[in-house]
Amino acid sequence: MDEASDLRGLSRRLLLGATAGLAAAPVIAKAPPAATQSQATAGKTDVVLSVNGRDYRRTLDVRTSLLDALREQLQLTGSKKGCDQGQCGACTVHVDGRRVLSCLTLAVAVQGRKIATIEGLAEPDGTLHPMQQAFIDHDGFQCGYCTPGQIMSAVACVAEGHAETDADIREYMSGNLCRCAAYPRIVEAVRQGRDRMRRS
Ligand code: FES
Ligand code: FES
Repeated sequence: MDEASDLRGLSRRLLLGATAGLAAAPVIAKAPPAATQSQATAGKTDVVLSVNGRDYRRTLDVRTSLLDALREQLQLTGSKKGCDQGQCGACTVHVDGRRVLSCLTLAVAVQGRKIATIEGLAEPDGTLHPMQQAFIDHDGFQCGYCTPGQIMSAVACVAEGHAETDADIREYMSGNLCRCAAYPRIVEAVRQGRDRMRRS
């Protein structure tokens, strides 16, 4: 073997040795956790949510939807997650008296606003809101999954003046889907709820 061959052999051994060292490097690189920990807390913020007349202080990821905050942080599970993308209305709540889709609303964006959910609709003594009673009286539900959203939407619909006729009710409640197709009874319920809300 000539000198040039020896050098080539040496170079390959050095290269293989260096490559083996590089392969081990990531194992060693996983050790320092400091950056990972700061990333884990990054993106979180303290929020105070005023829900049904009570203030709740929580530390949330800034990307948390109001729906997830209500259900997973405040244990207010009345508002339902049907689609999580603004198509079904099951997550409807009120913010300052107006209906919003809580799955499309960031929790941090509604700090300082008055949030109302289905849990806060009845009187403190348990007397149902006229719209809740109307849904019961007219069997305005079957499985009930869409019902909290239907009722919150119906209450706002009446307050908006958008429940004057059955056609109005159908139109302005059309963002609330019911997979059980209880629509005719929902319209009857909203009609009764509207009349009783006006008397109360
Ligand atoms: S869960 Fe919000 S619109 Fe369906
Ligand atoms: S009552 Fe079942 S989805 Fe509406």
